[in-house]
Amino acid sequence: MTTTEPTAPAREEVLAGAAPYTSRILSTYDMWVLGFVCPVVWGCPRDEMLRQYNRSVGARHLDLGPGTGWFLERAAFPTLTPELTLVDLNEGVLRKAGGRVAHLRPQLLKRDVLAPLDLGEETRFDSVALNMLIHCLPGDMAHKATVFDHVLPHVAPGGRIFGSTVLAKGVQHGRLAPKALENLNDGNGPMNNLDDSLEDLESELAGRFKNIRLAVRGSIALFDITID
Ligand SMILES: C[S@@+](CC[C@H](N)C(=O)[O-])C[C@H]1O[C@@H](n2cnc3c(N)ncnc32)[C@H](O)[C@@H]1O
Repeated sequence: MTTTEPTAPAREEVLAGAAPYTSRILSTYDMWVLGFVCPVVWGCPRDEMLRQYNRSVGARHLDLGPGTGWFLERAAFPTLTPELTLVDLNEGVLRKAGGRVAHLRPQLLKRDVLAPLDLGEETRFDSVALNMLIHCLPGDMAHKATVFDHVLPHVAPGGRIFGSTVLAKGVQHGRLAPKALENLNDGNGPMNNLDDSLEDLESELAGRFKNIRLAVRGSIALFDITID
């Protein structure tokens, strides 16, 4: 299977994907988004995503778009002294998530995941998380998937790339999901996924990786990739 040519969105659209995460939104995110919207609207409880996180998280870990750091705080790292790097376009997010795991002295980097990450040529990770990130990114799935090209050179052999994303097409939505998708994609809404389909996600992953686990729970696709 081959990947299609990506279409690049405008810079303002990229910034808009991270802008909604103000300190006010971040203060209610864990309860409202992870605690209510994920299970009730998208049909995928946060504990399911946490189980995936804990199956795959490694000692040298990169989290792209960490949000409030809810997953990071609960992650079952295979060591007491993991090396953590958090990447986000939003400085408030980096402060919030970084503060939550401050005891682990994470490196905080303000970056756009749709551009080369400038992590240092020699830098390698055992795991990379992209939890609930892809549906915030603008552009078609081919463009969104360039995030995988940016992290791949930094994944150690045997390392994992894992995460989840809300899809609009190719999944079985619950009763509340269609209206929520419409509202959350509206104007300044945090999502940008009305064209995201399971088929396109599968195709972009299959065009890059061999060892892929893709599962669907409600409106959410959960992916877990092992690098040779
Ligand atoms: C829906 S939140 C997910 C937070 C967290 N991973 C979770 O699952 O709870 C999306 C995160 O991606 C970040 N983000 C959105 N677009 C980005 C981009 N182009 N580059 C880097 N981070 C981005 C947002 O600032 C936010 O922290």
